Amino acid sequence: LSLANLMSKGEEKGSRLILALDLLGPKDYCSSRAVYLLSILRDYVIGVKIGHPLTLSIGIKGVLDIIKQYSSEYFFIADFKLADVPHIMKATVKVLVDMGFNAVITHLFPMSIDELVPFSHGLNASIIGVLMMSHKGAVLFEKNLNVLLDYARGVGVDGVVVGATKPMYIKLARERLNRDQLIFAPGVIRQGATAGEALKFGADFEIVGRAIYEAPDPLLSARRIVESEREALHDQ
Ligand code: XMP
Repeated sequence: LSLANLMSKGEEKGSRLILALDLLGPKDYCSSRAVYLLSILRDYVIGVKIGHPLTLSIGIKGVLDIIKQYSSEYFFIADFKLADVPHIMKATVKVLVDMGFNAVITHLFPMSIDELVPFSHGLNASIIGVLMMSHKGAVLFEKNLNVLLDYARGVGVDGVVVGATKPMYIKLARERLNRDQLIFAPGVIRQGATAGEALKFGADFEIVGRAIYEAPDPLLSARRIVESEREALHDQ
């Protein structure tokens, strides 16, 4: 399965770091900045999450070009937090996989991915469900966590997203999901969690955006994050 590639890339590079490439702005600037970042971060970053910001800035063709150029070096995750009826979900995932994405993030709450998971596996792509969001207002997720967790486990999603700012939910997800269902934790540094913290609570990967792409020295920032992650894992 495709997430096995992410795991092996992680082992190869000794890293659990996924870059949220949320560049927003003029097309030419964002395209060249994206290419620059991916060309310098290959030793530390194993996956790249692309969503609305970059896609709206550089267009589908721009995203396609980036994936084509870097498909052997990074695992590409499409983050459009899909939340639609089953046949639209399937059609959308097919297009994203044809573009070269290795995994797609969907919402769990519409409970519309029962068929999507095996369908995606047939395309050699993974499905990652949003289980908990990092912002304070995400109370509906908190109130319905048990239902979402049972659904995620039941349909066999390959991974879930749990905000790193709420590590108790990472721990709970780790206890309740199957071991091969991986946990992705965004919300590191700029939303308050320290690098490596989510891994200590059981997350498999950390997703970092602004703390890298807005840093004066993105490579140094990525290196420091990976070093903190290695320490966190070493301390366990
Ligand atoms: P920053 O710049 O804060 O970027 O490092 C974070 C990235 O991760 C996404 N994000 C989330 N996605 N649940 C999600 O599904 C969350 O709790 C969450 N918190 C952050 C955000 O879209 C951005 O790309």
